[in-house]
Amino acid sequence: MGVTDRLVPLARWLWPLAVANLLANIGIVVTGAAVRLTGSGLGCPTWPRCTEESYVAHGELGINGAIEFGNRLLTFVLVAVALLCFLAALGSRHRRAIRLSLVIGLGIPLQAVIGGVTVLTDLNPWVVAGHFLASMFIIMVCVALLDELRSPERGLAPGRHRVLAFATLAVGWVVLYLGTVVTGAGPHAGDAEARRNGLDPAVVSQAHATSVYALVALTVALLVVAVRSRERWLTRVTGLVLAIELAQGVLGWVQYWLGLPVGLVALHMLGAALLAAGLARIALAVLPHRAAYEAQPELGLQEAAATRLGGE
Ligand code: HEM
Repeated sequence: MGVTDRLVPLARWLWPLAVANLLANIGIVVTGAAVRLTGSGLGCPTWPRCTEESYVAHGELGINGAIEFGNRLLTFVLVAVALLCFLAALGSRHRRAIRLSLVIGLGIPLQAVIGGVTVLTDLNPWVVAGHFLASMFIIMVCVALLDELRSPERGLAPGRHRVLAFATLAVGWVVLYLGTVVTGAGPHAGDAEARRNGLDPAVVSQAHATSVYALVALTVALLVVAVRSRERWLTRVTGLVLAIELAQGVLGWVQYWLGLPVGLVALHMLGAALLAAGLARIALAVLPHRAAYEAQPELGLQEAAATRLGGE
């Protein structure tokens, strides 16, 4: 019996583990928000050790040390989930699932290193931005894995749908990037001493908001073509993403006018993570998707059908 044969029983856990991967990667964005917004970014002043002498936080580092160290520990939970998911994918012999879960599994230690670099550069705002955007990318890959495992069978969408969907994805990335630039200009650096990017917060906030208007316009256009051509799956996904964008846009303005209260900023980061997931879903919805039984030849047709959502 080969190694992958031994992993076959794990295959039944692939879906819940893929869901856990997504939830864990969204969750760490929120705990990362807690680190930044409580000014705990340098709670452990060095990396990979917490202090020069110790790998763990101790009492003298206070609550900030506990918060930052707690976030570091969460990395191990993410690694465990990603590893189990990869093993389950190997057991399923689903090639794309293996590749996607491997990318997720490699992305997490990479993020731990980027997180370490943020500490070693005293929270350089451009490095912090890269750390956040890398999480958005991993979330998108988690969504691609879920989409691969369970989503309606579909063909390639018409050219106009594809152009709009990928333009939405591209502008979505611009919105996410500009958001991190606003953060780099703003007051929540993660530590009172950390330097800022020196840009005018009002000007970059305006640029960020303008990119959001372009994103909403593209999403509405995609929704219209999807409804008109009776693409039910694309309509559903795009409608949901539009709702996230609108909620996130209102939240963005409210936090701006209220002077960036930490609770709202944390919600805005959660909203960004949800939007990243939605943007990936939109791009995937215009690409062809094979039925699960084709991708998993060892499963019976009935079992495969049971692993799929909807099926419209
Ligand atoms: C689809 C809508 C939106 C998305 C996806 C989005 C996304 C983001 C992202 C990714 C960040 C950076 C988070 C981080 O670096 O930790 C951010 C920050 C920010 N966004 Fe948005 N945003 C949206 C709408 C808006 C709007 C309409 C405004 C209004 C001005 C706004 C104001 C801000 C501000 C002020 C920050 C900086 C918060 C801080 O200093 O920590 N956002 N946004």
